[in-house]
Amino acid sequence: MSLSLDFTALVSAARDAATRSYSPYSKYAVGAALLAEDGRIFSGCNVENAAYGLTLCAERNAITTAVAAGCRRFLAIAIAGGTASAPAYPCGSCRQVLAEFCTADLPVAVAPLDPAEGPGETIRLGDLLPYSFSL
Ligand code: THU
Repeated sequence: MSLSLDFTALVSAARDAATRSYSPYSKYAVGAALLAEDGRIFSGCNVENAAYGLTLCAERNAITTAVAAGCRRFLAIAIAGGTASAPAYPCGSCRQVLAEFCTADLPVAVAPLDPAEGPGETIRLGDLLPYSFSL
């Protein structure tokens, strides 16, 4: 993991994305910001639907936006949601989708929505999803 990564900026981008969350059903806003190898940041928020199962997670929205823009190599992701004691750790599906494009060393910064609650923590993708599926 590179020490020069600016996690503060990435977490800010994730929190900013969370302000655009469409979550009228759960009222649980999540934002994600993905730092591409070329320095660009791609963000996403959760987008819910009246047919609940169609809900899109913030992380997968960020990843699909980046891939659609031609980026497939990433240095880090930040996720903002929940509180300091119960942050929005990425769901299992998002972990597997991250594993499609990122190595086990990818730093995953998980931060509470409210900056007043602190910066959160950073966990390796490989620790969040050991034994990921691959063909
Ligand atoms: N959610 C995400 O955006 N990312 C996750 O990794 C887990 C859950 C969203 C989906 C739903 O809109 C809300 O959080 C509550 O489950």
